[in-house]
Amino acid sequence: MKPVQVVTIWWVLLLVSRLGATRKGSPEEASFYYGTFPLGFSWGVGSSAFQTEGAWDQDGKGPSIWDAFTHRGKGKVLGDETADLACNGYYRVQEDVALLRELHVSHYRFSLSWPRLLPTGVRADQVNEKGIKFYSDLIDALLKSNITPVVTLHHWDLPQLLQVKYGGWQNVSMANYFSDYANLCFEVFGDRVKHWVTFSDPRTMAEKGYETGHHAPGLKLHGTGLYKAAHHIIKAHAQAWHSYNSTWRGKQQGLVGISLNCDWGEPMDISNPKHVEAAERYLQFCLGWFANPIYAGDYPQVMKDRIGRKSAEQGLDMSRLPAFSLQEKRYIKGTSDFLGLGHFTTRYITERNYPSRQGPSYQNDRDLVELVDPNWPDLGSKWLYSVPWGFRRLLNFAQTQYGDPPIYVTENGASQKLHCSQLCDEWRIHYLKGYINEMLKAIKDGVNIKGYTSWSLLDQFEWEKGYSDRYGFYYVEFNNRNKPRYPKASAQYYKKIITANGFPNPREVESWYLEALETCSINSQMFAAEPALRHMQMVTEITVPTVCSLCVLLAAVLLMLLLRSQS
Ligand SMILES: *[C@@H]1O[C@H](CO)[C@@H](O)[C@H](O)[C@H]1NC(C)=O
Ligand SMILES: *[C@@H]1O[C@H](CO)[C@@H](O)[C@H](O)[C@H]1NC(C)=O
Repeated sequence: MKPVQVVTIWWVLLLVSRLGATRKGSPEEASFYYGTFPLGFSWGVGSSAFQTEGAWDQDGKGPSIWDAFTHRGKGKVLGDETADLACNGYYRVQEDVALLRELHVSHYRFSLSWPRLLPTGVRADQVNEKGIKFYSDLIDALLKSNITPVVTLHHWDLPQLLQVKYGGWQNVSMANYFSDYANLCFEVFGDRVKHWVTFSDPRTMAEKGYETGHHAPGLKLHGTGLYKAAHHIIKAHAQAWHSYNSTWRGKQQGLVGISLNCDWGEPMDISNPKHVEAAERYLQFCLGWFANPIYAGDYPQVMKDRIGRKSAEQGLDMSRLPAFSLQEKRYIKGTSDFLGLGHFTTRYITERNYPSRQGPSYQNDRDLVELVDPNWPDLGSKWLYSVPWGFRRLLNFAQTQYGDPPIYVTENGASQKLHCSQLCDEWRIHYLKGYINEMLKAIKDGVNIKGYTSWSLLDQFEWEKGYSDRYGFYYVEFNNRNKPRYPKASAQYYKKIITANGFPNPREVESWYLEALETCSINSQMFAAEPALRHMQMVTEITVPTVCSLCVLLAAVLLMLLLRSQS
């Protein structure tokens, strides 16, 4: 058994189903809420550069740590896949913008590849004009289609040279390089881009990149590397925000925020104070780690206490959690014009009351156990269970913890392992409907939510999972060198939610579901003979399933012949 699995099983124990049953049907969660979102609520989908663009060494782009990590092979990524081609998005801008128009989204969240713009990572070395033109054209195409660009500066693909030469996020000078890069982006795109996200899910970047080594740069600096990386990321974020505030905001009038991902942590037994405390700790180590410095000027007290105490027990002079100086605290506090929240699933949390394994680590610092309810729906994923009510709680938590900030949901979605003949992703539709409805309830609770970004536009390269997890509204046939896209049923369903700006009434919402499933089924396509259906749409929606069915048919015929010849 690989260590990954051991760790996973070690902390994701299965919860007895009895407990799950007692939690279901609490009144707030029981009913679906019919209603619409506030006027001007922004609907969108997201993607990231490394996961979709491909063209990894084209037109002057430098390598990123993820190029290096995937090219190393050795089982770092499932099937030793790379993102050298990914969705071929670099060459498909016009087509992908057409898909966005088809979805009727009001915004599109995507990320810029730092090494595509600055091949060595350093602005003073060289600026890649072709990279600037690529993103400039994308932004123009979006605006022409009335789609607001929401631009992430850094979604994990650090220029490889910054890693090799300076140690990447272990080095505080990354903050300067990042700030120079951010300033370039503000300068060349800021006339048209008004929504900036500095970092996407920096917690995962720090934890998987510098603690577990499952992500690039693949370092395992247990219990130290991730805190140091996070420390420098927070400084880099603050520095970029200050640059924008002092140099660009006057002219450009935009917003700069950060996107933090966190699952909800629910106490396993709400009447047990130790469980309640453990769940609070889970959230502080997850969301508070980054949000607290930005909104309150310092790390959460519970992180400082725990990591400090454990470091002392481990015989260290200083806490493994770096400290901000008074000046830094003042500098960092208040550096987000909105809170970007990414959210996918929920855990039950209890305290860990058995001895921790040897050595310092993030897991040991938190001292808690994460559990899942076997009754929660999942689609074979080891981590992504559909628990919509957790979303509402997380949104309420963020509101009260960070002083009622404007919130943009920057990521939410579910993967489904589909084959080309099954574009009917019913499970994703249920997930989408449930989560968006809980978000609507959170708005009713008074949470200031401005927009929602569903993850993701296309099936894309899913980091260490390769191409096995499919989050897209559009199915991508990765085996085909042209990487054709096909709409899944959820694309049509999401479009209906967007068009209605919510869930008007039971009858209508039910009809969306039936329609979406109808459209995606092969038979209805073949027999509907809908004259209004454009040829292109027919081709994209039918070709793949048809080819698949023909293959199956052919196989059956061959098998029959074989059996006959043997008898
Ligand atoms: C950190 O980066 C700077 C360049 O900005 C470099 O001079 C220094 O050696 C680096 N430190 C380490 C420990 O690599
Ligand atoms: C942001 O910029 C404005 C206008 O220049 C300035 O008044 C304000 O103090 C700045 N905010 C911070 C936190 O530096």
